[in-house]
Formats: sequence, C-alpha cells, structure tokens
Amino acid sequence: MKRGLFAAALAGLAIFLTAGTVFLSTGETVPSEIITVREGDAERGAYVARMSGCIACHTNEAAGGALLAGGPPLQTQFGTFFGPNITPDKPHGLGNWTLDDFARALRLGISPNGKPYYPAFPFGFYTKLTDQDVADLWAAFQTVPGIPSPSKPQEISFPFNQRWTLRGWKRLFFNPGVFQPQPGESDLWNRGKYIVTGPAHCGACHTPRNPLGGRNAEQALHGAGELPGNERSPQITAEALREKGWTETNLAFGLRFGTKPNGDVVGGSMGEVVRDGTSWLTDEDLEAIAHYLLNNPKQD
Ligand code: HEC
Ligand code: HEC
Repeated sequence: MKRGLFAAALAGLAIFLTAGTVFLSTGETVPSEIITVREGDAERGAYVARMSGCIACHTNEAAGGALLAGGPPLQTQFGTFFGPNITPDKPHGLGNWTLDDFARALRLGISPNGKPYYPAFPFGFYTKLTDQDVADLWAAFQTVPGIPSPSKPQEISFPFNQRWTLRGWKRLFFNPGVFQPQPGESDLWNRGKYIVTGPAHCGACHTPRNPLGGRNAEQALHGAGELPGNERSPQITAEALREKGWTETNLAFGLRFGTKPNGDVVGGSMGEVVRDGTSWLTDEDLEAIAHYLLNNPKQD
C-alpha cells in the first residue's frame, strides 16, 4: 500500500475508533482489590522481572540510567515511547502506589487515576500473570532505591497521542484474564504456555499486528515485520521451528546461550531478550518453553 494511502487508512480507522469510543466507553469498571495474594517474595520477584523484561524497558542502561528509573526510547510506528520511572520514589516513581494499583496496571492496563496505558507496555500479556507473580514483582520493586527523576513524556503524534482513545483500542484488542491451565496437558506444557503467552510476552514481537497495533490472534507466533528499529521476527510455530532444525534440547540451549541449530548466534532484539531475559531462567523453565513451543499445534 502507498504511504499516503496507508496514512489515510490509519486516520480513517482512528476516526472510527474515536467515534466508537464515545459509544463504548463511559469509563471502565475497575475493581478496587484485584489480587488475593498480599505477601510477595522479593527474590522470586526479581526472577519474574527478568523473565518479563521489566528491567530492559524501564532502565536506560546504555545511557547509564539507574535501575528502573526510566527506559531507553522505544521507536514504534505510532511514535517514541519511554518506560517510566517505576522505582519506589514519591512522587516520580511508584512511591504512592499500592499493591492493587500495581496489579491493576499490569492486569488491566490502567493507571491509579483511571488512565488507560499504551500497549507499548505489554499489559496484554501481563494480564495473564498469577497473583503470586504480581505480588512477588511488587515485593522486588520495593527493594530498589527510589530515584527522584521524572518520567519522560511519550512522543506520539496525533491522533495516537489522545490517550482516551485507548479505551476504544482496549475494547477491541485487549482480552483481560489470568492464565488458565489447559486441562489434559502436562504441567510442563502449561508452565511453558504460561511463560510464553504471559510474562515472557514472546508474541509481542513474534505475532503480526494490524495497522492499529492489535495482535492478529489467528497468526499467533507467525513472525512479524515493523518491529521497533525496522526489525522482522521469524515464525516460531512448532512446524516452523522443526523445519529449521530446532528440537526441545537445542531450543532450551539456544534460549540460554543465544545460539541457533546451525551454530549462528541470534541477533537484534532477540539477542537482548536472551541476554536480559531467557539466559537467566532455570533449566526447568527453559525446558517448559521449548516443550510448549514445539508441541503447540494450535499455535496460540
Ligand atoms: C516493551 C517495553 C516494556 C516492558 C517489557 C515493560 N514495560 Fe512497563 N511500561 C512501558 C511503557 C512504554 C510504559 C508507559 C505506558 C504509557 O505511558 O501509557 C510502561 C508503564 C508501566 C507502568 C505504569 C507507570 C506509571 O507511571 O503510570 C508500570 C507500573 C510498569 N510499566 C511496570 C512494568 C512491569 C512490572 C514490567 C514487567 C512485568 C514492565 N513494566 C515491562 C514499557 C514496558
Ligand atoms: C523484542 C522482540 C522479541 C521478543 C520479545 C522475542 N523475540 Fe524471538 N526473535 C526476535 C527477532 C527480531 C528474531 C530474529 C533474530 C535473528 O534473526 O537473529 C527472533 C528470533 C527468535 C528465534 C529464532 C528463530 C529462527 O528462525 O531460527 C527463536 C527460537 C525465538 N526468537 C524465540 C523467542 C521466544 C521463545 C520468545 C519469548 C521468550 C521470544 N523469541 C521473544 C524478536 C523477539
């Protein structure tokens, strides 16, 4: 599609969304208490944070930024996003937040004062997090030094800078709900599915999106273009992986060491996913991911 035409289509869709929003969103009903586990384990939480990529998106490591005090620019077709300061600082970080505020942000993509978040924050995946994982993350975040620096404003062009239109977006593309294990499948398979479709958000990069940034569920894990930085990701369905020589053993190994079956090294943002995320996981969790991905005929 020509660029101009594409832009026009986008604008048209945005107007449709905006109009739809007026009808659809007279405010979201947000429960005040949404998780039952109230005590977290900070050490487990640090592990869940690695698995989930929180640190990479909220720490500007390249610029020597403090842990969780604000992330590097994340370029998308809608503009440039910055992960905010999520240290326990008051007022710049989460110092005034409660565990329930934190759980609502992750599970429902909504701020303590009711503003919807942009899906650049992968709450569409984190909604699947168990109560225990959310409580553990929160406990871990309390142990990080508070940094008194303000979050960077998002640099997004019209109409996407109209935050309230995200309510319409969420109605269309966001399916909230904690992970439900699939009966009849093994614990290993369900653990793998939980990690892939929840905390590790593999589909954020491996599932193609429509022009409004909604994921195409029918094409889950089929590979995507237009990733930040003009990257493309390959298909990682069971069939595609097997064709490229992946087995459960070399996939678990590859997620630990960043290697491919032919001896090449994974590059680009996948290199970062391995460095900051999967290389930190236990052998059991890597086996679970590999087992699920290679035994997932429904490709969900
Ligand atoms: C791909 C990058 C990315 C990842 C991974 C990520 N975030 Fe974020 N996060 C963002 C962006 C961007 C925003 C801002 C969204 C907005 O302005 O609507 C955000 C917002 C937030 C907020 C709201 C902060 C505020 O000031 O309102 C919290 C809390 C948060 N993230 C926690 C987490 C946690 C916990 C994890 C890991 C489980 C995580 N994030 C992983 C990019 C990311
Ligand atoms: C930030 C985006 C991003 C995320 C998140 C991500 N990937 Fe990737 N992945 C990529 C890109 C880009 C490539 C291509 C890298 C290359 O060609 O060197 C890739 C390549 C791969 C490959 C190699 C496939 C092949 O063609 O041989 C596998 C396997 C893989 N990813 C699995 C995963 C799994 C499992 C997860 C979740 C734990 C995940 N990826 C999360 C971006 C991502």
